[in-house]
Amino acid sequence: MTQDQKTIYGIIGNPLKHSLSPAMHNAAFAELDVPAEYKLFPLEENELDQFFTDLRKENSPIFGLNVTVPYKEKVLSYIDSLNPLAERIGAVNTIVINQKRKLLGYNTDAPGFMAHMAELEMNMRGKRVAILGAGGSARAIIGTLCMIPDRPESIKIYNRTTSRLETLLEDIGQRINIDIVEPVNSIDDLNMELADVLINTTSLGLKKDDPLLLEDELFHPHMFVYDLIYNPPETKLLAQARKKGAKTANGLGMLFYQGVLALQHWANTQLDDKVKIVMRKALYERTGC
Ligand SMILES: NC(=O)c1ccc[n+]([C@@H]2O[C@H](COP(=O)([O-])OP(=O)(O)OC[C@H]3O[C@@H](n4cnc5c(N)ncnc54)[C@H](OP(=O)(O)O)[C@@H]3O)[C@@H](O)[C@H]2O)c1
Repeated sequence: MTQDQKTIYGIIGNPLKHSLSPAMHNAAFAELDVPAEYKLFPLEENELDQFFTDLRKENSPIFGLNVTVPYKEKVLSYIDSLNPLAERIGAVNTIVINQKRKLLGYNTDAPGFMAHMAELEMNMRGKRVAILGAGGSARAIIGTLCMIPDRPESIKIYNRTTSRLETLLEDIGQRINIDIVEPVNSIDDLNMELADVLINTTSLGLKKDDPLLLEDELFHPHMFVYDLIYNPPETKLLAQARKKGAKTANGLGMLFYQGVLALQHWANTQLDDKVKIVMRKALYERTGC
């Protein structure tokens, strides 16, 4: 890397078109007045090997990455050192590339989710939680809900592909205590009428023509419904829940908090409030909410 070259950060995943991370991080770099740029790296699975080989080269300008759908678990095999939280969860969404070109893996989704819950004053203690999905972000949510002191009473999880859910629980169960978790084979078995909290961790809802997973009748006014998707700002699922009187929130706050934590790992310093405000403003300008 030459001295006048910009430092590059970015996100790997597929699809990436919906990502608001470039807006958030580039706004932070401008505020901090650092010569850096955050880019999208849309990658097919068969391109991962080459990408990570290039990443280790001395002349690579890339010093930090986020990881999103569908690679949060797959990237583990490329990481040199996992921080304890990422190790326990088994998923990485933030990579620091140090001066020796070693790759350090972190999970900022889990603390990002909890920071958003705190902002929303949503205490999970004793709650009956239903989760949709069993991908990389589900790992972070399940992991953090099982590890926090204010644990829910129960967590029921449904995933379209049952075998993936089984594998996830088998794996994460070796890392942490998941005694409050119960996998279910059908939406009916989620017992939504008894659920206090519903969390969508699937990517269903990202696209306009995505089908509905749940019937309208399953939502009720005493529940809190959280969708990790933030673009569109109101998914069909959140609209269903809102119409039935449930409290709702999208994942924009989680994106913000995980982004702040990721940037703090890359910069190896705490961000001051001024930078955080700029990051949040950039997100709200893009989504209009
Ligand atoms: N707000 C934030 O900060 C934040 C952070 C992380 C993730 N996210 C969002 O969360 C979503 C999931 O991310 P991820 O990393 O967990 O992805 P992932 O690892 O690829 O997992 C995707 C999940 O979605 C399910 N799914 C996909 N298409 C489906 C369909 N048509 N019907 C039913 N289920 C379907 C998958 O089920 P199968 O196993 O059956 O394929 C799997 O459970 C993405 O939209 C991502 O943008 C947001």
